[in-house]
Amino acid sequence: MNAIEIRNLSKSFRGMYAVDNLNMTVPVGAIYGFIGENGSGKSTTEKLICGHLVPDNGEIRLFDKDYTDAGVRVRVGALIENAGCFPNSSVWDNLMMQAINLGIKNREDEIRRVLEIVRMEDSAKTKFKSCSLGMKQRIGIAMALLGEPALLILDEPINGLDTDGMRIMREILVDITKNYGCTVLISSHILGELEKIATHYGIIRQGRMIQEISAEEMESRARVFVSLKTKDMKGAKAVLKAKFDSVKEEEEYLRVYDVEDTESIVKYLLENGHVVSELKKNKIGLEEYYIELMSNKED
Ligand SMILES: Nc1ncnc2c1ncn2[C@@H]1O[C@H](COP(=O)(O)OP(=O)(O)O)[C@@H](O)[C@H]1O
Ligand SMILES: [Mg+2]
Repeated sequence: MNAIEIRNLSKSFRGMYAVDNLNMTVPVGAIYGFIGENGSGKSTTEKLICGHLVPDNGEIRLFDKDYTDAGVRVRVGALIENAGCFPNSSVWDNLMMQAINLGIKNREDEIRRVLEIVRMEDSAKTKFKSCSLGMKQRIGIAMALLGEPALLILDEPINGLDTDGMRIMREILVDITKNYGCTVLISSHILGELEKIATHYGIIRQGRMIQEISAEEMESRARVFVSLKTKDMKGAKAVLKAKFDSVKEEEEYLRVYDVEDTESIVKYLLENGHVVSELKKNKIGLEEYYIELMSNKED
C-alpha cells in the first residue's frame, strides 16, 4: 500500500502553475526526500496534501482513501513553515492546547510520549520563546506527532540547524519510521543530510515531478569513479584520456569514471611516467546525481 498517491495534481496562483500535473507515490514506511530548488512547488504540494490549499485539479489518495476522508485526515501530522506555538506558553502547555484541539483522550500520556520521541522530556516547562531553533523544530515535530499519525509531512525541518541538531533530527526521524511505523515526507535542500536517512526520493522542477527513485535504485545506478592526484595533472589527464572513456578534472583531482580497478590505473600512469600521490575510490552521491539530473534540460 502507498501512504501517498498523487495523480495529475495542479495548483495555480494568479494563472501561474506552482504545481503542474504532478504525480507522486510514497510507499508506507518510507522516508521520502522531496527535493527541488526554491520555488519548485514543494511547500505547495505539501500544503495541498494537508488540506491547507485547495487544488485546481487532480487526485490525492492517502492510504488508499481519498485525502478528504475524515478517517484518513486524523492520520496525518504536519510541520509546515512553523509550529504555530504561543511564545509565552510552556512547551507542555502548547502541546496540551494542541491535544485538546485534536480531541485526544489520554492527553498527559500522549504528551509524555511525543516529548520522549523528540527527546525533550526535560524541557516541558520551558517557555516556547526561550527554546533554541533546534528545540523549536523538535517541538513542531512533537505537535505533529500528537494522536499517533501514520503519515508525517515535514517542510524543511532541518533548515538552519547546527550539526548536532541535524543529527538528533535524523535519529528522531529514523526512530519514528522504524519504531512507530510512521511514513515521513520530508522536503529539504540539504542533500547530504537527506541522503543519510531517505529511502526514496522525488525530484520536482517547476511544479512537475521529474523523477521518483528509491535510494536503493539510486545507489545501484550511481557511477563509480577513482579520483587521484599526480604532480603533472595536465599530462596525466592526457594520458588517461587516451585509454579511459570518461576523465574529468574536479576540485584538484582527476576523476576516472566507471573504473574500479585502481591497480590498472596506477600501473598505466606509471608506465607513462606519472607517479600517483593520492588515490581514492568513490561513488556519485545524491548531490551530484541531482545536479546532473538538473543540468539535463531535455529531461
Ligand atoms: N500563496 C501563494 N500565492 C502566490 N504564489 C504562491 C503562493 N505560494 C506559493 N506561490 C508560488 O508558487 C511557486 C512554488 O512555491 P513553493 O511551493 O513555496 O516552492 P518551494 O517550497 O519548492 O520553494 C513559487 O513560484 C511561489 O512564488
Ligand atoms: Mg518551500
